[in-house]
Amino acid sequence: MIEGIGVDVVEIARIRRTIDQWSGTFLNRVFTEQEISYAQSKKNPTPHLAARFAVKEAVAKALTTGWSGGFRWKDVEVQNNSSGKPCVILNGHVRELLKGSRILVSISHSENVVIAFAIIEKEAS
Ligand SMILES: CC(C)(COP(=O)(O)OP(=O)(O)OC[C@H]1O[C@@H](n2cnc3c(N)ncnc32)[C@H](O)[C@@H]1OP(=O)(O)O)[C@@H](O)C(=O)NCCC(=O)NCCS
Repeated sequence: MIEGIGVDVVEIARIRRTIDQWSGTFLNRVFTEQEISYAQSKKNPTPHLAARFAVKEAVAKALTTGWSGGFRWKDVEVQNNSSGKPCVILNGHVRELLKGSRILVSISHSENVVIAFAIIEKEAS
């Protein structure tokens, strides 16, 4: 059963500006080591960081409570499987909140923006 859906569009230039301004502080607060190293493995890392940012926002929207539940950006982590397909690993408070549910995500990049779509699905009991 679908419990929630969320979508987010992120301007790549906005993420680039934020990284330029805050550098490591922004990166380490928002992204896990694995997310950073995935992005850094690409020729142009910023769109991939922007995509991960969009996923976190999309999941927050799907939660309906948004980010008001006291959890952290890193509680929602994007990993890509061997074919490149993204999936979400939950940590901390969000993991507790979504026990018994799974998250499906999809990402797309264009030249200037990235978009992420998330679905929270209750697992069959
Ligand atoms: C995978 C594919 C669909 C990506 O599409 P694209 O138009 O090149 O690029 P987009 O910007 O729209 O999407 C990129 C995102 O797709 C996602 N993606 C990559 N491989 C994927 C896969 N096998 N399944 C689902 N999503 C995938 C990733 O999240 C990626 O962003 P990220 O690297 O920041 O995580 C494309 O490379 C392709 O058609 N490959 C060949 C066929 C294929 O393997 N299809 C897989 C779907 S069944």
